[in-house]
Amino acid sequence: MKRSIQTDIDQNASINSSYGPDPGNGGAASVSKASQASYKPNPTLITDRVGDDISMENILRPKTFDNYIGQEKTKENLKVFIEAARMRGEALDHCLFYGPPGLGKTTLAGIIANEMGSKCVISSGPAIENPGDIVAILSKLQKGDVLFIDEIHRLNRQVEETLYSAMEDFAVDVIYSKGESVVSRRIPLPRFTLVGATTRAGLLTAPLRDRFGMIHRLEYYTVGELRQIIFNSAHILNVEIDDDGAKEIALRSRGTPRLANRMLKRVRDYAQVRYDGVITLDVARTSLDLLDVDSLGLDRIDRNALETIIHKFGGGPVGLDTLATALGEDPGTLEDVIEPYLIMQGFINRTHRGRVCTELAYHHLGLEFPT
Ligand SMILES: Nc1ncnc2c1ncn2[C@@H]1O[C@H](COP(=O)(O)OP(=O)(O)OP(=O)(O)O)[C@@H](O)[C@H]1O
Ligand SMILES: [Mg+2]
Repeated sequence: MKRSIQTDIDQNASINSSYGPDPGNGGAASVSKASQASYKPNPTLITDRVGDDISMENILRPKTFDNYIGQEKTKENLKVFIEAARMRGEALDHCLFYGPPGLGKTTLAGIIANEMGSKCVISSGPAIENPGDIVAILSKLQKGDVLFIDEIHRLNRQVEETLYSAMEDFAVDVIYSKGESVVSRRIPLPRFTLVGATTRAGLLTAPLRDRFGMIHRLEYYTVGELRQIIFNSAHILNVEIDDDGAKEIALRSRGTPRLANRMLKRVRDYAQVRYDGVITLDVARTSLDLLDVDSLGLDRIDRNALETIIHKFGGGPVGLDTLATALGEDPGTLEDVIEPYLIMQGFINRTHRGRVCTELAYHHLGLEFPT
């Protein structure tokens, strides 16, 4: 019998109390606690996620591959492997998803469990503090269950080592004291699927990475895909939106479904209060301008990064750490969350001497490119 993902995700609150109902640690929250001290959240974008956003994310989160737009290669591969595993009556191989926040890693974990007809148990790297925690989670799994570990790069060494044998041999060694002596006992585990997610694939250790049967990088979404996601979400939220309105939100969503949904919600509020409730091009444009999101989806943090390279470092090259210090950002956040979209848009080049702003970036900011 299929068990609902939504229910399982909600149940997770009790599995790991340090975790919210949806540990899809979006945006800044995910950027790592270590970086929070220097992180300045932008109220409109990638970064912060408040309770309201989290509950909306759960409502809008696709439960099946049919509603999961884009990421075609990943989806096709997963569909084949899931079908094969189901035919053999086995658990799916362990999978790792990596990529910037909000591209659908947590969503995919839920879909995998749903399509496998199994349960999704959710935890996160920093929440699992010692080997006892991971053994407690593993020993509650049933055959075929999906264990989703978000921010998997943040598991500590001992927990990671416990996970090696769990992933490979489906057993863990538990050490406990019996009278005067210390005894080790091997506990067999049911065949389960570990789904790991990270925004920082580079920080994963090789032994852990090698134990995943599939590794998928999630890509930024095209405007067409985001438009479709926005239409689907508008339908669920019962919001009227026209073609041009949806396209405008898609264009400014930084290639990221989470942002597309978030902007849809903000534009909807604006449409209700200031207009007749329908999201048109004009409504979308006016409200997104107010949110300080420009025509290509760059927010204040993005523009600040480009302007800092141009004005403080003569357009570059500037090293990652120096730039991060100038911006008051964590280098990891800069490299894995802010930079990828700017590189994809062709605004920044990574060279061996550092980051360089391109002519496109100057033009986008309305500045003259020095010749
Ligand atoms: N392919 C998709 N199709 C439709 N909606 C999507 C898709 N991917 C993500 N979403 C929407 O975007 C929201 C964010 O996705 P999700 O939480 O899975 O991202 P994530 O990659 O886990 O982010 P993080 O790295 O911050 O944990 C989801 O609630 C869902 O509504
Ligand atoms: Mg997530």
